[in-house]
Amino acid sequence: MADLLEMLYQRRSIRKYTGASIPDELLEQVIKTGLASETSRNRRSWEFIVVRDKAMLAKMAHFRQHSALMLEGADAAVVVLGDEEKSDVWTEDCSIAMAHMHLMADQLGLGSCWIQGRQRDCEDGSMTSEAYLRELLGFPHNLRLEAVLSLGMIDEHPAPHGEKDLSWEKVHQEKWPQIFRA
Ligand SMILES: Cc1cc2nc3c(=O)[nH]c(=O)nc-3n(C[C@H](O)[C@H](O)[C@H](O)COP(=O)(O)O)c2cc1C
Repeated sequence: MADLLEMLYQRRSIRKYTGASIPDELLEQVIKTGLASETSRNRRSWEFIVVRDKAMLAKMAHFRQHSALMLEGADAAVVVLGDEEKSDVWTEDCSIAMAHMHLMADQLGLGSCWIQGRQRDCEDGSMTSEAYLRELLGFPHNLRLEAVLSLGMIDEHPAPHGEKDLSWEKVHQEKWPQIFRA
């Protein structure tokens, strides 16, 4: 089986971390993967903010209602922002970088989880998730929040996915709705 498929089956979202520190060189490898990601017209519309300060991570844990609480136990977070003045498809550019960094983290034995930021509100509903993080991190208004990747040393081991989990019924043949593989 192709290595990439095996990697994708093994990959899981990890939200529990030991509290141990991620070695700097591994964190750099993850960031390199984001920087190496393909972008529309090669505009590289993303910007990444790497946060390791624990007090800041604890505040960031409230940028969503419940869904970001793992940041309290994380060793690092990568905030992925897109420059809407550079590209009208910054969401796609940022999503690809997020997916690649998440997969790389898994390959390096690090736990990580995508935390959605775009179109979401902060914990108490008083502002958007983007405005909440902008207040904390100071990024300008042309930079829009896509998502945050939480990172830490793994402290949970969910079962891998496999062939049995593939939703073949979602694949159609030639025209809707014939299914590709009965
Ligand atoms: C676009 C997107 C948004 C997500 N948002 C969150 C989130 O806000 N909080 C969270 O804990 N997990 C989030 N996840 C992780 C998903 O819940 C997870 O990928 C899914 O349940 C499948 O589990 P697995 O990644 O372990 O295979 C998100 C994943 C994606 C792709």
